[in-house]
Amino acid sequence: MQNWLGLEGQVVIVTGGASGIGKHVAETLKDAGATAVIADLSVETGDMLEDMFCVKCDVTSAESVNAMVAAVVEKYGKVDALVNNAGINLPRLLVDVKGERPEYELNEKSFDLMFGINVKGLMFCAQACAKQMLKQGKGVILNMSSESGKEGSQGQSAYSATKGAVDSFTRSWAKELGKYNIRVLACAPGIMEATGLRTPAYNEALAYTRGVKPEDLSTDYTKVIPLGRDGKLDEVGNLVAYLVSDRASYIAGTTINISGGKSRG
Ligand SMILES: NC(=O)c1ccc[n+]([C@@H]2O[C@H](COP(=O)([O-])OP(=O)(O)OC[C@H]3O[C@@H](n4cnc5c(N)ncnc54)[C@H](O)[C@@H]3O)[C@@H](O)[C@H]2O)c1
Repeated sequence: MQNWLGLEGQVVIVTGGASGIGKHVAETLKDAGATAVIADLSVETGDMLEDMFCVKCDVTSAESVNAMVAAVVEKYGKVDALVNNAGINLPRLLVDVKGERPEYELNEKSFDLMFGINVKGLMFCAQACAKQMLKQGKGVILNMSSESGKEGSQGQSAYSATKGAVDSFTRSWAKELGKYNIRVLACAPGIMEATGLRTPAYNEALAYTRGVKPEDLSTDYTKVIPLGRDGKLDEVGNLVAYLVSDRASYIAGTTINISGGKSRG
């Protein structure tokens, strides 16, 4: 069963691959024999991160995304899969009913930031990679969604809406591209162990939107997650490696939950 995934020699771009889930996904792919490329705002082109080639890319800029894909094709000759993972989450209430922290009420700036990266950026990356995959006659686009896109989330309505859009894009793009041998699918992590996303500023905003103090944000998941714990980044890495491999060759147009049973899916 060694090399069961058959990812050797596969070139996979992981956006947002310098931190958190993306970094673990990239490492898992590399360990499975793939050539993982890290496309992220926080790296410099030509950097090597744990033996993985990095390309600086701002997913909100079509020009930057096109240049990133061109750089990967120039270096490796192809793009077998895209893990469309870069994303941000700014907890915000629709209305700051208590009126104590107006900065945690949704406004145009926070809305545009989240939709700019999580939705527009995801679309630019999918578009640029799909054009390359069409030339190759094969490819996989795996979008990183979230359980909150299906369930909604108190204090995270705009973030959840971006992920609802990701799920919807996934279904439509699978219909547009399946006939060209390009699989489009998504996965939706639930509550995960901490990543770069969970900054002190994030915790403070989330706590306010939940009506608690940051130190009282619960980490006892036994009541809300059937498996009784948060998800491990490696668990998402393993799922993504499987989903982009040919072992998942008949899975397309759907979002696979990875939430310990928390979400109805
Ligand atoms: N952490 C969780 O609990 C969780 C749960 C469900 C879904 N997700 C999703 O997983 C993905 C990764 O989240 P994470 O928790 O690992 O976050 P993270 O903050 O650790 O990593 C995000 C990465 O994206 C990069 N990035 C941000 N803006 C960018 C831009 N404009 N262009 C290119 N790169 C950019 C950052 O530099 C960073 O390296 C996101 O799409 C997130 O919504 C996370």
